[in-house]
Amino acid sequence: MSDLDFAHSVIRGLSNTPRSLDCRYIYDDHGSRLFELICEQPEYYLTRVERAILLDAADEIARLTGSAALIEFGSGNSTKTQILLNAYAHRFGGVRYIPVDISDSILEQAESELAKTAPLATVDSFHGSYEDAFHLLHSFSPLVFLFLGSNVGNLDAVEATEFWWKISSSLNPGDFCLLGVDTNEDTDALHAAYNDAAGYSAEFTKNIFARINRDLGASIDVDTIKHVARYSPDHNRVEIFGKFTTAQQIHIESLDHRVTIEEDELIMTEISRKFRIDEVQPYLKGFGLESRQVFTNPERTFAVMLLARV
Ligand code: AVJ
Repeated sequence: MSDLDFAHSVIRGLSNTPRSLDCRYIYDDHGSRLFELICEQPEYYLTRVERAILLDAADEIARLTGSAALIEFGSGNSTKTQILLNAYAHRFGGVRYIPVDISDSILEQAESELAKTAPLATVDSFHGSYEDAFHLLHSFSPLVFLFLGSNVGNLDAVEATEFWWKISSSLNPGDFCLLGVDTNEDTDALHAAYNDAAGYSAEFTKNIFARINRDLGASIDVDTIKHVARYSPDHNRVEIFGKFTTAQQIHIESLDHRVTIEEDELIMTEISRKFRIDEVQPYLKGFGLESRQVFTNPERTFAVMLLARV
């Protein structure tokens, strides 16, 4: 993803009504670091709960899938995955792991961390977007495709359909998918998770505007942008915006493109969809992915689903 891709994406997003930006671009080195900090905040239950579920379920997951390579999209720091890697490595004597992420620095960090925490895993990172990485799935079978942390929540309905179509057609019968989904519908808990007191969620949202300045030579006054994250029960998703508190012109230097943002305008930076297990199961069944087991916490705020490609 070059600066030119980024510039085009920004211009496209800012010409939408309402305006939006592609959330993948929040994850440059700084954004990935901010996301790690979000994951450590007490309000952001997703990471903590998913880790607890995996600690409980990892052996059972390895038993159910049998020996396989693990490919993970949006792997980030891979700290939760390390639990799975050790379960597979201990049961099968080793495991091959291909983490895929758009941040190069987080991949390097994960590799050196895994060398210590999962020494029996053979790690081959792939730096790129999901689109860049679909072709990798063909080369490994048996395979477990990992999509954890409710990363799938960033995809809207249209993007998700395309995504699952590509995943399902890249997997062979007998391969598996391990999917982590946020199933929380508690408005207060969701509001807190996406508006942490320490302010990392706000920094994360603002980072895409800061990156437009850094990489595209714009001069947006980022300090006047407010982070807005609210749960929409109607759409069962958290919607995240940068709210411009003053009118500003955004000048994308490389393409000499100018966009005027009005005072109080909201620019959507991200959606985070929430899921109901009994809706996800028939939906994925339509892509040939059959639910084999669902692992949850007692409060049922998060689920890790094991699906088989049939
Ligand atoms: C990485 C998409 C799972 O939606 O919870 C967290 C991203 N954004 N706080 C999520 C995010 C703001 C996160 N995902």
